[in-house]
Amino acid sequence: MFFFIISILFLHHVSGSDPLFTWCSPGFQDYSLNSTFHNNLELLLGSLSGNISASGFYNTSTGEDPDKVYGLALCRGDINSTICKDCVEKASQDILNNCKSQDAIIWYDLCQVRYSFQMFISMMVYTGKYPDENNQAKNVSDPARFSQVLTYLMNNLSNEAAFVPIKNMFASGEIEFSQKITIYGLVQCTRDISGTLCYNCLNSALGDLGACCSSRESGTVLSRTCNVRFGLSQFFNTSSQYLVVYPTSKGAGGKLKTWMLVLIICASVFVLAVLTGFCIACFHKKQGEDRDDEKSEKMLLQQLATPKSVTITQDGELISSEELVFMSFATIKFATDDFSDSNKLGQGGFGSVYKGVLPDGNEIAVKRLSRKSWQGTEEFKNEIIMIAKLQHKNLVKLLGCGLEGEEKFLIYEYMSNQSLDKFIFDSEKRSQLDWNTCYGIIMGIARGLLYLHEESRLRVIHRDLKPNNILLDHDMVAKISDFGMARIFCENQNTANTKRVVGTYGYMAPEYAMGGLFSVKSDIFSFGVILLEIISGKRSSGFYATKLASTLLAYAWNLWNEGKEMEFVDPLLKAECLSSEVSRCMNIGLLCVQEDPEDRPTMSDVMVLLGSESMSLAQPKKPAFSVGRSIKVDPSLMTTSSVNHIMLSTVQPR
Ligand SMILES: *[C@@H]1O[C@H](CO)[C@@H](O)[C@H](O)[C@H]1NC(C)=O
Ligand SMILES: *[C@@H]1O[C@H](CO)[C@@H](O)[C@H](O)[C@H]1NC(C)=O
Ligand SMILES: *[C@@H]1O[C@H](CO)[C@@H](O)[C@H](O)[C@H]1NC(C)=O
Ligand SMILES: *[C@@H]1O[C@H](CO)[C@@H](O)[C@H](O)[C@H]1NC(C)=O
Ligand SMILES: *[C@@H]1O[C@H](CO)[C@@H](O)[C@H](O)[C@H]1NC(C)=O
Ligand SMILES: *[C@@H]1O[C@H](CO)[C@@H](O)[C@H](O)[C@H]1NC(C)=O
Ligand SMILES: *[C@@H]1O[C@H](CO)[C@@H](O)[C@H](O)[C@H]1NC(C)=O
Repeated sequence: MFFFIISILFLHHVSGSDPLFTWCSPGFQDYSLNSTFHNNLELLLGSLSGNISASGFYNTSTGEDPDKVYGLALCRGDINSTICKDCVEKASQDILNNCKSQDAIIWYDLCQVRYSFQMFISMMVYTGKYPDENNQAKNVSDPARFSQVLTYLMNNLSNEAAFVPIKNMFASGEIEFSQKITIYGLVQCTRDISGTLCYNCLNSALGDLGACCSSRESGTVLSRTCNVRFGLSQFFNTSSQYLVVYPTSKGAGGKLKTWMLVLIICASVFVLAVLTGFCIACFHKKQGEDRDDEKSEKMLLQQLATPKSVTITQDGELISSEELVFMSFATIKFATDDFSDSNKLGQGGFGSVYKGVLPDGNEIAVKRLSRKSWQGTEEFKNEIIMIAKLQHKNLVKLLGCGLEGEEKFLIYEYMSNQSLDKFIFDSEKRSQLDWNTCYGIIMGIARGLLYLHEESRLRVIHRDLKPNNILLDHDMVAKISDFGMARIFCENQNTANTKRVVGTYGYMAPEYAMGGLFSVKSDIFSFGVILLEIISGKRSSGFYATKLASTLLAYAWNLWNEGKEMEFVDPLLKAECLSSEVSRCMNIGLLCVQEDPEDRPTMSDVMVLLGSESMSLAQPKKPAFSVGRSIKVDPSLMTTSSVNHIMLSTVQPR
């Protein structure tokens, strides 16, 4: 009966009619039908099956930037060209019908097809996927030894695939586990990557395979650039396979086995001892020697070198891409002087920020993320890689990240003038700001937000925009920081309603603070508050301390209505500003904080309004007053957990 079921499963599998996994990358804006991108994609997918020919691998691109599409198809190394062509044709159709994302991949048993707006050819990104079938596999009886034998087979196959050129990055083989049971294994890489990258990819995949399936009767791990699979029945064609002999099982007598085991253990202990000694020596050397010592510097720089790929190991070790460096914990610790208090720049809702200096002298800001309960590491990695691609003059550049167990770090460029709040709410520093600088800052924030909302491939709603998150570089250019944090932290990022309200009182739009509803318009609200703060030099969240009005917004509204808008302007700015320009900014600020999100302009509207002096402005209606100071949250509307998740990161001035 059991064999019957297995063979049914097996037959079902061989037919290969259903995809094993489809991944339409979430978080990119969908392409629209009949767009240039869509046409290019159709063209590209249509050309794959015709060109894959006998080699079983094809990569290409169609169109011109920004609508260029890159594509790649790979067939399993043991199937003939007819079957390969059919599989790629089907996969191309399927991915076109089922994905609308600008980046997607589909895996079938016998082939895989991938496309993206990003150039990915010859780059390696490891983020493994596990098809559901893994969960249905039975447990084996002697898991410890099974895992050993399996590892031996798969390691041998990985070496063969990656480093034996005639294998074309594909290897399959079998190993005898017991007299009755044989383990069959298969590994493959896409042929655009180098042997070393292939080996790294397979290594990561085997790590994942071990985690999911090493005590099961079969398992599969799929990734963009490599796949691994094993089972107890022969699921591939015989011609390509060969027998791998496990060393301990070859010995006829138990004596020999024990002897070999002892040898292996001795050897391992020896190697371990040597390695440990070496590490201790290194450690002592590093400690004993001067920080600026050339050698340790070189070592660290090597760790930071940026190969043209992203490789993420199971434990989140060294991993790099052109856009993003994954730093080791040791490097980060070294750079921040073990997170010393003297290097601490601040504390925000998402964690503490430290200043760091890399061995090459470059300054960085390290954010040590606080939350321990995360979405999966897989999603974290995907998000970081995506967010690293958001690059704009008015966004703080994400340079890299680090992952080590529960610890997660984001590494940013260091901003020598720190954050906007340090300038606008500090009477001494404020005197360094003139109106032109303020106007430049406002324009900078607006450009950055416009990019996040409308111009980037990702649709990013900041959700925690406030002066602490606006950083200033040495030329006082404003750069938005912490963008994408909401994406990293909030699981239901694609829906417009969240129970977990992340934000800061005083800057949150009423519909978001009260009802958890967010949209680009809630960011616009925060932008409006910041605008009014810059003009007045008064803090929205601390406004109740004054006797002028109940909130900053009410104060602005009252003066606006009485036609006394120049009274709203900070005396330090008043001297040299153009009253028409300030009044215009105040008008825009008030439009942004309207109670009804529909009444607020979009970021592209704001850019137009800021940029033109002649364009007439709409008269603001009464803004949302209540949010400026305190929010009455009806506890029955919120679950306890959501209340806990409200982050009051900066109600008090630092
Ligand atoms: C796309 O174009 C085709 C033919 O040109 C047309 O029939 C179809 O309605 C269009 N679809 C959309 C969504 O514009
Ligand atoms: C092969 O690809 C080229 C360009 O990518 C395309 O023009 C051609 O039609 C394809 N061949 C077949 C048989 O699909
Ligand atoms: C596809 O790969 C080949 C090498 O195999 C490379 O020369 C070619 O430029 C690639 N095509 C594209 C469009 O990247
Ligand atoms: C090779 O194996 C696949 C699936 O295991 C099968 O569909 C195919 O017919 C086999 N033979 C050839 C010649 O590809
Ligand atoms: C590939 O294999 C299938 C069945 O396994 C067979 O029908 C077909 O003729 C083969 N094609 C080539 C080109 O060998
Ligand atoms: C296999 O073993 C795991 C625990 O190791 C257990 O959770 C799981 O239910 C078992 N599966 C089957 C099919 O027996
Ligand atoms: C894998 O095993 C085969 C058979 O035992 C052997 O010939 C081959 O050298 C091994 N390859 C590697 C890379 O260890």
